[in-house]
Amino acid sequence: MQELKSLFRERFGSAPTYIVKAPGRLELLGNHTDYNEGLVMSIAIDKYIYIASAPRKDGQVELVSTSFPERETFFVDRIEKNPAAPWANYSKGVLLQLRERGVHFTGFNAAIHGTIPFGAGLSSSAALEIATVLTVRDLFPFSLNEISMQPAPVRDSRGQLPTLKNNEKMALAKVGQAAESKFVGANVGLLDQISSLFGKQNQVIEIDCRTNSVNHAPMPPGIAVVICDSGVKHDLSDGAYNELRERCESAAQALGVKALRSVTMDELRANKSKLSEREYQCAYHIVGENQRVVAGERALREKDIAQFGQYLFQSHESSRDYFGNSTKELDLLVEIARQQPSCYGARLSGGGFGGATINLVEHTEVPAFQAAISEGYLEGVGKRIEPWVCQVVDGAA
Ligand code: GLA
Repeated sequence: MQELKSLFRERFGSAPTYIVKAPGRLELLGNHTDYNEGLVMSIAIDKYIYIASAPRKDGQVELVSTSFPERETFFVDRIEKNPAAPWANYSKGVLLQLRERGVHFTGFNAAIHGTIPFGAGLSSSAALEIATVLTVRDLFPFSLNEISMQPAPVRDSRGQLPTLKNNEKMALAKVGQAAESKFVGANVGLLDQISSLFGKQNQVIEIDCRTNSVNHAPMPPGIAVVICDSGVKHDLSDGAYNELRERCESAAQALGVKALRSVTMDELRANKSKLSEREYQCAYHIVGENQRVVAGERALREKDIAQFGQYLFQSHESSRDYFGNSTKELDLLVEIARQQPSCYGARLSGGGFGGATINLVEHTEVPAFQAAISEGYLEGVGKRIEPWVCQVVDGAA
């Protein structure tokens, strides 16, 4: 936070008026189910994108970041991509989407600082989108629900805006998603943005992406969530993600349904001949993931963490063998984890093709688990990594 304030003061010569933060997320179970109108479980984690901001009067927006040397300056009525500052696209996309929805804003200065590692599959992009939305809301108060603009919210005597209602959070999540699909070029679902907004301390977020409804369930006590970053960077806008989405959608079309959520495993098997081999594999993964989330939610409610962990391992196998979004590094991390008796379950988390694994580990055994992973990965891949424990936190504010 000090780093952020210093950057703001150094670049803009004054103190910021507002500071917001939006957390990254981990996908717990339910891989690529979101854009198939399916089910997914996630958690918001204690790694954040922070934005410090203050209004300015000349109609320009100036963005600076602790992670990139260049400043990015543009007029609010001329928002375009700049190949020299691709990191700014997430914020620019959000501004365009807000404008499209009738939100009025003028210029501002903003300094961005993040603790979410890039390319680790922990949704630094969505966190930046959500932090940008909240920055605009602080500077130029507005209220959107999923249907329309609402009367602007009023600050209380301490200058605070009212807490976001659930329907407002959902509308803001959609702003972030649209920024990413329409401006950045990654045709993502809503998982990351919903997770960043709907996170709750020590609670799992359960999302139904057909109705866009969110429930929370307690995280099992005594279990640490360990993140193992493979160090292989992944980028959702590089095409592989969109391609998987297209296969899922063409499979749904061939099966005569709007989305793969509507298909049971029996129906899928019975209609295999209508699909190409690749479509079948992708659909098999998605239908299986939806089943695992249903079973996983039940296991968590029954506090059967051993069973829940098995679904994580199965989910990873399905990514590896059917969906094709794992890598040999992620497979190795999961295999080492599986050999540790302290580990209940492990899988790749998020888009895939790199990034991190999520591991549920008996909390008293974390140091031994971390050591085993580091050692095994060094031996297998020749890279030194340091697995870390994350906390499950509240959503953006
Ligand atoms: C990325 C996307 C999400 C979701 C996951 C995979 O994180 O942004 O919308 O599709 O991959 O579950």
